[in-house]
Amino acid sequence: MNFILKTIWKRIVLFAVIAFALIQFIPKPKRNSDDTISEASFNTVYVVPDTIMHVLKTACYDCHSNNTRYPWYSNIQPVAWYLNRHIVNGKEELNFDEFGRYSRRRQQSKFKAIASQIEDNEMPLSSYRLLHREARLTKDEKRLLITWAKSSLDNIDSKK
Ligand code: HEC
Repeated sequence: MNFILKTIWKRIVLFAVIAFALIQFIPKPKRNSDDTISEASFNTVYVVPDTIMHVLKTACYDCHSNNTRYPWYSNIQPVAWYLNRHIVNGKEELNFDEFGRYSRRRQQSKFKAIASQIEDNEMPLSSYRLLHREARLTKDEKRLLITWAKSSLDNIDSKK
């Protein structure tokens, strides 16, 4: 009995190793990279303080802009797929490089969402925070971002 179990285990491990090796040959998703400066980018259409920009770039831009700084392990499958899914979904919801093309209503709802996502600790994603120490926002950084998002919202509201 023990012997049979061991054989089954060995096969499972062998299968996993082979599968892991094989998926490395599947072409990786296209990288999220764009050298052109978008005229719709967030800090072109708004005056954004450097301190805010710095936090957004370190903690949010990897998934919410047209340029991701890829870590070395992003070359390994299935990590490449996993990261790509976050980037595609993240950009779809909010892309700071396209922000200027959003309708005013959409911009308002995004500012609201930014404040609430940070307040609720939903963003940056916990898997990202785990691997990116610099993206773990301090209390002060959170407060800074939330206050800024809310005041930006008030600014758009008053521009009727
Ligand atoms: C690792 C990738 C990743 C990082 C980093 C990240 N996000 Fe996200 N974000 C996502 C994904 C994916 C979604 C889509 C919804 C979901 O899966 O929760 C999302 C959704 C959002 C939404 C919701 C939009 C809406 O209209 O409901 C907001 C707002 C947001 N993110 C803001 C931020 C901010 C602000 C930061 C930085 C402090 C940040 N995100 C960092 C991946 C990321």
